[in-house]
Amino acid sequence: MASSMTFLCEITSGNAFLNRSFAFPSVPREAQRLSSGFHGVKFRQIAVEVKRRPWREVRALKNSHWADPTDTDINLSDIPVLSNSEVAERLRTNQEQHSNQHYMAMFSSIFGGITTDPAAMVIPMDDHMVHRGHGVFDTAAIMDGHLYELDQHLDRFLRSASMARIGLPFDRSKIRDILIKTVTISKCTQGSLRYWLSAGPGDFYLSPSGCPRPALYAIVIEGGSIPDQRGVRVITSTIPMKSPQFAIMKNVNYLPNVLSKMEAEENGAFAGIWLDDEGYVAEGPNMNVAFVTADKELLMPHFDKILSGCTAKRSLVLAEKLIREGMIAGIRLGNVSVEQGKMADEMMLIGSGILVKPVLQWDKHIIGDGKEGPVASALFDLILEDMKSGPTSVRVPVPF
Ligand SMILES: Cc1ncc(COP(=O)(O)O)c(C=O)c1O
Repeated sequence: MASSMTFLCEITSGNAFLNRSFAFPSVPREAQRLSSGFHGVKFRQIAVEVKRRPWREVRALKNSHWADPTDTDINLSDIPVLSNSEVAERLRTNQEQHSNQHYMAMFSSIFGGITTDPAAMVIPMDDHMVHRGHGVFDTAAIMDGHLYELDQHLDRFLRSASMARIGLPFDRSKIRDILIKTVTISKCTQGSLRYWLSAGPGDFYLSPSGCPRPALYAIVIEGGSIPDQRGVRVITSTIPMKSPQFAIMKNVNYLPNVLSKMEAEENGAFAGIWLDDEGYVAEGPNMNVAFVTADKELLMPHFDKILSGCTAKRSLVLAEKLIREGMIAGIRLGNVSVEQGKMADEMMLIGSGILVKPVLQWDKHIIGDGKEGPVASALFDLILEDMKSGPTSVRVPVPF
């Protein structure tokens, strides 16, 4: 009988179903090769002599993707094994050389404090947020030594965490204190604060039941100039948007958003506009969308299927002033059809990263007269003024 050498896996722990399916009692085990883990199942690769037998018996043994090591060149000499200090040094150099941003301070509940050393600004690889996307995040701008809309962002952050079923490592007021203290230590007066809540580290399984403590991370990034007000072109995104359950929470699964942004950039546009399951205008990949109708109404899509943007919501409040000044006739949340959107006098993108950005062209359609409109410009100014000198409800002073 002909025989051939092949490799198979012996399950040593983990999954009872796989244990049953992968048991090969009649196969002689001749050479144990190495122990490793795969999808949470520990196994040993074993070289065995397999006698030719009916296909039904051997099909579980053969897998052409389990490479025969003799097929590949192995050169292990140029892969260094590093000491702790070498790792730290390389992390620091890597950050300096490959990031155009300055990370001023980081809090991690894993090490239970704040660091200003970029080399230490790391998170555990077995964090459920890293390998399963089980995390939520939010931001707040730092302007003139104040955190803008910190409480509004924090409320959304905690709502997102609750929807993602992530517990809190600290109560709200402690999280707020930690965020403010991280900015204090960073000495950053202009920049941004970003923060994450995750199911935490523990293991690499799908269930978070092995992650005993949720984790909080926060980082302060210096700089970032005030966004410009130049108008942009947008396209209708062909990347499917998230279903409402996931679109309304700011979770870390931004792959659709990233792909949508890449699609826009490849088409010479600033952003892709998502349409919802009924074909109405939804949002952009990290911004909301607003229109000024021919009746001079400021019109925005409802927030029930999209992220409830802090900047968009604030601009609805600030826009009251534009009604008083007669620049707009009213403010309305409602369904916006593509046709209605493309026929609008003005279209704009609103978000904390861009404030208010006029849209001059959507796909092939020129919006209004193809120039930056007065309402977008007025809203931009109102938000900027609010960031610089708004009430204490939206400006939290950082005690440096
Ligand atoms: C999907 C999405 N929509 C809208 C926004 C705008 O929200 P905010 O104004 O709070 O930045 C964001 C912000 O990142 C976003 O990611």
